[in-house]
Amino acid sequence: EEAEPTSGTWDALPSIPLFSDLPRDAFIQLFERCPLRRFGPGERILAQGSHGDAFYVICEGNVRVFREEDGRRQDLATLEVGAFFGEMALLSGAPRAASVESASDDTQVLEISAAVLATLSRSHPPVAKALKKFCRERLLANVMN
Ligand code: CMP
Repeated sequence: EEAEPTSGTWDALPSIPLFSDLPRDAFIQLFERCPLRRFGPGERILAQGSHGDAFYVICEGNVRVFREEDGRRQDLATLEVGAFFGEMALLSGAPRAASVESASDDTQVLEISAAVLATLSRSHPPVAKALKKFCRERLLANVMN
């Protein structure tokens, strides 16, 4: 895992539905302020049960979300470019509900701290609303699973 400054031209930014209503400069600012983290195939990004202090948006590649119970692995979802994860622990205060690992050769995720996400949610209510909606749907899916 390594962090690198998100620099260069801004015309190559990924399309992220969660942020589609953000003004362009707010969107660019996010990429300037937050580290882009890269993971190789199978590398663990989040561990189920751990404390959550950040939120992630997939900028390249894809990830697998899974739970581990009694040594058995249960896949919950595969998430692709533009999707996000890590919102549940931040919204609920609960430990990470699942583990997340890189499922591609070059997975790049923008790591948004809890503090930055809280500020963004306050200044852009549609972002907060979308996060809650996804959190609710995922919680429900996991209970039914
Ligand atoms: P969090 O609990 O913080 O950390 C693990 C993340 O996996 C969780 O937030 C969600 O973002 C994601 N996640 C959990 N369950 C599902 C699911 N059923 N579908 C998609 N993503 C999920």
